[in-house]
Amino acid sequence: MKVVVDGARCTGHAQCNVAAPEVFTLDDLGYALPGEIAVSHDTEPAARRGALACPERAITVE
Ligand code: F3S
Repeated sequence: MKVVVDGARCTGHAQCNVAAPEVFTLDDLGYALPGEIAVSHDTEPAARRGALACPERAITVE
């Protein structure tokens, strides 16, 4: 599984990082680092929670 952070949609709510800090990394301004993130089986539930937590729907799960 992978998740994709759309940097154009991220406005820095940081809820993804709160839900899954092991998956979503923030930059110095509090925006999620954009792009594809490979997710291990163990961290899939956290990654899904992080994606759902984003109010901008900036994260897709693939
Ligand atoms: Fe950005 Fe959404 Fe996370 S706005 S910082 S991807 S919660």
